[in-house]
Amino acid sequence: MSAGSAVLRAARAGDLDALCALEAGAGKSRWSHGQLADSLARHRMLVAMDGTRMVGYTVFQWILDEAELLNIRVALAYRRRGVGRRLLAACLAELEGARCLHLEVRASNRAALALYGESGFVPVGIRRGYYPLATGGREDALLLRLDRPAST
Ligand SMILES: CC(C)(COP(=O)(O)OP(=O)(O)OC[C@H]1O[C@@H](n2cnc3c(N)ncnc32)[C@H](O)[C@@H]1OP(=O)(O)O)[C@@H](O)C(=O)NCCC(=O)NCCS
Repeated sequence: MSAGSAVLRAARAGDLDALCALEAGAGKSRWSHGQLADSLARHRMLVAMDGTRMVGYTVFQWILDEAELLNIRVALAYRRRGVGRRLLAACLAELEGARCLHLEVRASNRAALALYGESGFVPVGIRRGYYPLATGGREDALLLRLDRPAST
């Protein structure tokens, strides 16, 4: 599958099992069933489909005239094929009117930092020891922001 052949669409309530299956096979820092169910119910979610197989998703929400990107995840076997970039682009397109976008990411997450960086997100803060590590320690969260020019 090339990035261009993945079909992006809005997530629906019936996607919960597929989202959980994607998450279960998608490496570290997984979201729980409860987090995914909550996201489906309360936030905007887009999914990337390769035929009938869900290969990625993104979750975001408006906060007044700003927006927050809550997660992007791509199935391990589909990484580095442009799916994450397409999901982020679709999310940014939906949020076109937002004054600025916020997100937080593990300081060690090179893939996500590179993806967000190429879309113009810049680090604006740090939360020391925010994320637990599987090894028992803690890891910093970087706060990233993308400012949008004011529309005239
Ligand atoms: C971050 C993530 C969504 C990227 O998805 P992806 O589909 O593999 O990314 P893409 O193929 O669209 O890559 C776009 C760009 O991001 C950067 N990138 C992606 N993966 C990378 C990696 N492993 N190392 C370095 N840069 C990477 C590159 O600049 C890449 O462009 P290039 O392939 O032309 O060099 C994916 O790695 C993932 O699901 N990670 C686990 C969940 C996660 O950490 N989400 C972020 C939470 S804040």
